[in-house]
Amino acid sequence: MSKANEELMERIVSLCKRRGFVFPSSEIYGGFAAVYDYGPYGVELENNIKDFWWREMVQRREDIVGLDSAIFMHPKIWEASGHVAGFSDPLVECKKCHARLRLDHLLEEVGVQADEKMTEEEINKLFLENAEKIACPSCKAKNFTSGKKFNLLVKSNLGNITEDPKEQPVYLRGETCQGIYVNFKNVLDSVRVKIPFGIAQIGKAFRNEITARQFIFRTREFEQMEMQYFTSPEDEMKEYEKLRKRRWEYYLKLGLSEKNLKWHKHEKLVFYAKEAYDIEYKFPFGFKEVEGVHARGNYDLSQHTKFSGKDLSYTDPQTGKKFIPHVIEASVGVARTVLAVLTEAYTEEKIGSETRVVMKFPKILAPIKIAVFPLLKNKPELVKKAHEVFGSLKENYMCEFDDNGNIGKRYRRQDEIGTPYCVTIDFDTLNDGSVTVRDRDTMKQERIKIADLEAFFQSNF
Ligand code: GAP
Repeated sequence: MSKANEELMERIVSLCKRRGFVFPSSEIYGGFAAVYDYGPYGVELENNIKDFWWREMVQRREDIVGLDSAIFMHPKIWEASGHVAGFSDPLVECKKCHARLRLDHLLEEVGVQADEKMTEEEINKLFLENAEKIACPSCKAKNFTSGKKFNLLVKSNLGNITEDPKEQPVYLRGETCQGIYVNFKNVLDSVRVKIPFGIAQIGKAFRNEITARQFIFRTREFEQMEMQYFTSPEDEMKEYEKLRKRRWEYYLKLGLSEKNLKWHKHEKLVFYAKEAYDIEYKFPFGFKEVEGVHARGNYDLSQHTKFSGKDLSYTDPQTGKKFIPHVIEASVGVARTVLAVLTEAYTEEKIGSETRVVMKFPKILAPIKIAVFPLLKNKPELVKKAHEVFGSLKENYMCEFDDNGNIGKRYRRQDEIGTPYCVTIDFDTLNDGSVTVRDRDTMKQERIKIADLEAFFQSNF
């Protein structure tokens, strides 16, 4: 990462803490690695992103329905999915400073791509081939242990009252989509859906990430927004292309600029996959994955058929043809989207000799839509009127009332949390019923009658 990008990242992280978007977990106890909490504005931003995704993926679709499956599931599900045997990251230890490092990340730093499905032996071979280029990021030594693969599933002791080590652990789910696969038949039998159709869900996932990096980009607890689309074998790739196109357009609609997005094609595919692409965003630390759009063949439902003993095949009502549905998936993390949206929105503008920091969120994603201020906090008639305006606007918009400090300070604070409009109640308001509305991006102010505010915001949001 260049010095400038490092500083940009630091400024984003610091704004997130200072302005109540993201806090490190358990801070008063010294912190808890790779877990973060979302503050009052962070949770609004997250919710707006999740609503946006849900509207695009479920509400506006005739052929996709929602689901909310539980975090705890039968342990056999993780055997069927391949996670117990194969869901692991390669780890090495620096022999000098004992830092534990992801071997694939070290390779990535020197421009070598390791495939996540590589065996321990294969990745160690690749590491040896590139060993002279790789140095420990902490102490710069070039002396490592050989790589070992560590399973990423997080175990719980749920229901494990015997403490028998042979008893199968219950895991906290490592991805949300397994809940979708195991409910495929329930949805099919209870809702009027016909193939092709999709099931979408938003929920928490947990992974024992060895090295958590880059703020909220890679954490041990995170939320996924996943959609699994079930197709016939013949239609899989046609539907896959449609999904890829839609998912690209989704990010443009979300306000990310096209120059900051790119497709990354997986060159080495797992044996069952037909094709796999990731959508990458240009974070301050470079282009990195935000979403995976993958054509998975019929592996998922075949595995669950095999392990559960329940027939998960589908019979086409028109042709009578029976088959195990193929799956195409679109899987994205909420936090990665939050970080991409924060990066895209972060703006510094020179205003005279000062620098204005403003989060130029698309209005639909802004945590607070309208801030309402009385010009002076010690004038009860202004405060009362401001409360009245706030009371009516908050019925339809997420609003904030602020009477702290002078108006300039309040504007700066609202700019930093990305509030599109500030409404100020002043002495003229008491005479003519009009208020000042200030636009975040242009900083232009206009007088608007209180009676016309609702219509103004309706046309601007
Ligand atoms: N069902 C497919 C699946 O889970 P994945 O590539 O492992 O695929 C999908 O994860 C998305 O979930 C990623 O593109 C990323 O946005 C998010 N994600 C995965 N691991 C994450 C982590 N440790 N922290 C934050 N987000 C993560």
